[in-house]
Amino acid sequence: MQIFIDCDPGHDDVLAILLALAHSELITIKGITTVAGNSSVENVTDNILKVLDYIGVSVPVAQGCARPLRREPEPQPTAHGNSGMDGPILPAAKSRVDARHAVEFLQDAIMRQTEPVTLVTLAPLTNIATLFETYPEVKKRISRICMMGGSLNGGNILPRSEFNIYHDPEAAKIVFHSGVPITMSGLEVCAEAKTMLADFEPLKHGGRVSRLAYELMDFYCGYAHERNWDYTNVFDAVPVAQLLHPELFSGTEYRVDIETEGDLCRGMTVAIQGEFTPPQSPVTVLEHADGPRFSTLMLDALRILDQRQPD
Ligand code: BDR
Ligand code: CA
Repeated sequence: MQIFIDCDPGHDDVLAILLALAHSELITIKGITTVAGNSSVENVTDNILKVLDYIGVSVPVAQGCARPLRREPEPQPTAHGNSGMDGPILPAAKSRVDARHAVEFLQDAIMRQTEPVTLVTLAPLTNIATLFETYPEVKKRISRICMMGGSLNGGNILPRSEFNIYHDPEAAKIVFHSGVPITMSGLEVCAEAKTMLADFEPLKHGGRVSRLAYELMDFYCGYAHERNWDYTNVFDAVPVAQLLHPELFSGTEYRVDIETEGDLCRGMTVAIQGEFTPPQSPVTVLEHADGPRFSTLMLDALRILDQRQPD
């Protein structure tokens, strides 16, 4: 399967990318694009270039939109630090970003593929909405969007809104109205796909990639520690895990629309059952996950990469 990953690394974005890289027998990452979200687009681009260099992997990276379509960026230093990936101290990136804007890169690269591609989105949807508005022909070349974003009931930035959708609700609306099939990994399935904090501890003594993951999670789990939780949610790894092992997940088809306004509801994903009007996208909302097997899949991926990338 050929995939493109649009992301804002982001501790959990990095874990998602590591999971995909560990399973190159099933998934080929044809490109990574970045967008403003957890931190500025410059920071998140630099973060992924540093990670790829550190683990010795070469994937084209193109930098995308620096701000939402109509709003000011709202980075998330509490969850991810000012850099968007606080914790590990990595050497400066030697790899260079693609000279093209992410939207131009995606248009060109997607149209060149012989088969339709899967788009994995782990961030606000600004790049993807801009791509669909500027080059509508690419929509037919995307078999599915596997998205981390949204929720059925919960919220992590407003009571009913998840960050990736909240950050650029106008972009999300364009994507959910695009007609491209979507599998949505929202807050409910991510809550079931949890990883116990204790499971990260042994990574400290693991290989090169495990140690990086340990340092990432050490910072990221500060939020959980402060709340006395014994687990954390590695949100962005969920759509990748679902691509690798769909049998670990179950979901329901909904029509999903986006609330773009309101102090309480901006960015709410409104899931409506039993009513579907094309050209809206059919959305499979994942609701349940086998948490222990998800966690094992993710931790095993780090060991696989350690073996490929000795110290
Ligand atoms: C999403 O928001 C970001 O902070 C994470 O990287 C993830 O994509 C979770 O709501
Ligand atoms: Ca993310």
